[in-house]
Amino acid sequence: MIEKIEKINSVNGELTLPGDKSISHRAVMFSAMANGKSTVKNYLNSEDVNSTIDCFRKLGCNIVQTETDLTIDGKGFGGFTEPISNLDAGNSGTTTRLISGILAAQNFDTTIIGDVSLSKRPMKRVADPLLQMGARIETNDAGTLPMTIFTSEELKAIEYDMQIASAQIKGAVLLAGLHMDEETVVVEHSRTRNHTETLLGLKVEEFEGYRKIYSSKKNYPKPKEYIVPSDISTSAFFIVLALNLEDSELLLKDVLLNETRNGIIKILQQMGGKIKIENARESSGEKIGDLRIFSSKLRNIEISKAIIPNIIDEIPILSIAGLFAEGKYAIRNAKELRFKESDRIDAMCSNFRKLGVEYTEYDDGFTIDGNVINENILIESFDDHRIAMAFTILGMIVGKGISVNNFESVAVSNPEFIKQVNVISVKKIT
Ligand code: S3P
Repeated sequence: MIEKIEKINSVNGELTLPGDKSISHRAVMFSAMANGKSTVKNYLNSEDVNSTIDCFRKLGCNIVQTETDLTIDGKGFGGFTEPISNLDAGNSGTTTRLISGILAAQNFDTTIIGDVSLSKRPMKRVADPLLQMGARIETNDAGTLPMTIFTSEELKAIEYDMQIASAQIKGAVLLAGLHMDEETVVVEHSRTRNHTETLLGLKVEEFEGYRKIYSSKKNYPKPKEYIVPSDISTSAFFIVLALNLEDSELLLKDVLLNETRNGIIKILQQMGGKIKIENARESSGEKIGDLRIFSSKLRNIEISKAIIPNIIDEIPILSIAGLFAEGKYAIRNAKELRFKESDRIDAMCSNFRKLGVEYTEYDDGFTIDGNVINENILIESFDDHRIAMAFTILGMIVGKGISVNNFESVAVSNPEFIKQVNVISVKKIT
């Protein structure tokens, strides 16, 4: 489906955006593992989270789903049953990688499959540490899906020195670790999102330049009520839109402000973005708050290597902010972008080329300088929700008759994206 993007003059009003994707996945998984009934309030009802829900239904869980809430009858330790068909993770890397840590400890074989994009993404990064723990896992020759996880004799606890900054790898190892008496340890050198450890209450030790996270059977999840804050990654699209339009003031309510995820707000504030945090508080163990965003004049700043894992999903939309900001925008040290739902470095640069924006591509990022020159361009979304939404926001800011192909991919993280924009937008009368 091709979406034709109309210019917006300004945005005004307030939105409460859907629940955070990373927390929603984990809340479903931990509820399914626990022995008894859990509820997940304000979960993200999107394709990715539905992939996780479907996988756990296939593993024997009864999950009652409304638009906003889930009630999950968890199966308890050793309670999952062998699925009668492959587990389909759809487009979701988080589903695949986290669930592999759980499946490694089951006494049945499971095969995980996915869509075209997910089937190209690297899975050896989770298979390798799980193999070290004694799991039996086969990927295809390219280290990609389908991935079969076989019954293994017994897992053993390991200390895993994680070389890639990935919360998904960390999560897979720690979730496998929940099935053993001895402690499994993940050593993390760059700070990645901490939802697995926060939601499970895992022990974390901080050292100079690294941290150690521990899991064992004593941390196995128990039934509880999860309340999911609004997704900061989804909020980022609306923040950049409001900052770049004139006469705009937007209130985003109950947004997740977890310190491993809030880098996008900090960077945009340093760029001159007027983003006020109001009503900062704690909800279900997470920092949340309301964000009030005003039209601003942005200028580019240096983005440090250390903050990259914190903003990894927001880089496409941050780059759109960078395009409109004063000075040259540079994003480097971000090679991980090449392994997301699309190769996001290539996806951003090839669309900049179409738009006539000057850019230089590097193995680990790109720089951009200059304006959108060309009109009536069809953006290639590469079936990647964040690429589709980032260029939609660009089109809403500049106009110029931009369209975005395969727009339906936005349903991976925010099926109601256009509806939400319509609630707050004031369009140009032509
Ligand atoms: C996620 C971790 C990130 C992120 C993904 C969600 C998670 O991946 O890109 O969208 O929920 O753990 P990596 O940690 O593998 O970079």
